[in-house]
Amino acid sequence: MGTCINPADVPKVKFYTGEEVPCVGMGTFGSDRFTAEQVSAAVAGAIRCGYRMFDCAACYGNEDQIGEVFKAAFDEGVVERKDLYIMTKVWNDMHDRVEESCRKSIADLQCEYIDLFFIHWPFPNYHAPGCDVDSRNPDSKPFSVEEFMSTYRQCEELVEKGLIRHIGISNMTIPKLEAVLPEMKIMPVACELELHVCFQQQELFDYLVAHNIQPIGFMPLGSPQRPERDMCPEDVADLQTPEMKEIAQAHGVHPATIALKWAHQRGQIPIPFSVHEAEYVSNLKCMTEDPLTDEEMAKIATLERNNRLVKGQVFLWEGAKDWHDLWDEDGVIVTL
Ligand SMILES: NC(=O)c1ccc[n+]([C@@H]2O[C@H](COP(=O)([O-])OP(=O)(O)OC[C@H]3O[C@@H](n4cnc5c(N)ncnc54)[C@H](OP(=O)(O)O)[C@@H]3O)[C@@H](O)[C@H]2O)c1
Repeated sequence: MGTCINPADVPKVKFYTGEEVPCVGMGTFGSDRFTAEQVSAAVAGAIRCGYRMFDCAACYGNEDQIGEVFKAAFDEGVVERKDLYIMTKVWNDMHDRVEESCRKSIADLQCEYIDLFFIHWPFPNYHAPGCDVDSRNPDSKPFSVEEFMSTYRQCEELVEKGLIRHIGISNMTIPKLEAVLPEMKIMPVACELELHVCFQQQELFDYLVAHNIQPIGFMPLGSPQRPERDMCPEDVADLQTPEMKEIAQAHGVHPATIALKWAHQRGQIPIPFSVHEAEYVSNLKCMTEDPLTDEEMAKIATLERNNRLVKGQVFLWEGAKDWHDLWDEDGVIVTL
C-alpha cells in the first residue's frame, strides 16, 4: 500500500452548526469516462490513504458499487460509519420523491444515514444520462420558488426523520438564494458550486460566507476529463496558465496541487476527483504541507476569466434564450 495521511493531520473546516469536517473531499463523478468499478476502487484506495469525505450523487450511477466499498471498510474495521462524511444528492427527476431517492442512496451506499444531502440542481429539469448538449426535455421549466421549496421541505423532513444530518444546495445563484433562504426552517450548511482558479465566483462565494453557508467547490482542477458535452472551444485550461505553471514550478509540484492549496486557503472545500492513486494521495497530502504565500494567493486571484465549464444547456426550457438564462446574470431570476 502507498502513502497514508493521518486524517487527524488534515485541516478541518467548521460549519455554522459547530461541526468540523475535512478541508478536502473526494469527488466520485466518472464524467462518462471512468467506470463505476474504477471509481469505487479509487474510493477504496482513498479511504485507506486517509480521505474521510466523499461527494456522491444518485445520478453518477455508481452508488451501489461505492456502497460495497463502504461496507467492506466498515466490516474490516478500517473505519467506522461515524468516521466518514458521506454526501449525496437528489437528481432532478426525483424532486417530488425526495425520501424515496434518499432511501435508495442510503441503501446503495450501505451507510445508514447521509451526512449532507444536496438538491443537485434547483429545478426538476431532467436530461437522460450521457445526452448530447443540444438535447432538450419539453417538460423543462424555469426556476420556481414554490417548486424548489416543496423539494427543500422534503429535505427538512428527512432531517427530522434522522435519514440525513444536514441539507445542502447546489448550482444556485444569489437571486435564487435571496428568494428561498427566508422560506427555510433549517438552513443549509453548504452549497456546491463550480469553483476553480479561472472561475472564482467571488460575489456568490462572499454571499455564501456572509450567510454561514460553506462553499464546496466542484471541478477544482478545471475538470480536464469533463464530459464532451461540457467542452467548448472558448474554455480556458486553468492548470495550463503560465501563472499556475510558474507557481507549481517554484514549489516543485503539479499545478493541480497549487489549485487545491489555493482553494483551501481561500476558504472553500475542494472535492477533486481522480482514479489514479498517486493523484488522489497527492490531493489529500498537499493540504498538510507547504502553504502558498500571500503573494501567490494574490497572483492566483488575478486569474479569474469567468470560465464557467458546466453551462447547463441540457436543462434549458422552451423559450429560454441560451445557457446564460440559468445563471441569473442580470441579478434577477430568469423566468421566461
Ligand atoms: N454539484 C454538482 O453539480 C457537481 C458538478 C460537477 C462535479 N461535481 C463533483 O465535483 C467532483 C470533481 O469535479 P470533476 O471530477 O469534474 O473535476 P476535477 O476534480 O476538477 O478534475 C478531475 C480530473 O483532474 C485530474 N487530476 C486529479 N488530480 C490530479 C493531480 N493531482 N494531478 C494532475 N491531474 C489531476 C484527473 O484527470 P486525469 O485522469 O487525466 O489525470 C481527473 O480526472 C466530481 O467528481 C463530483 O463529485 C459536482
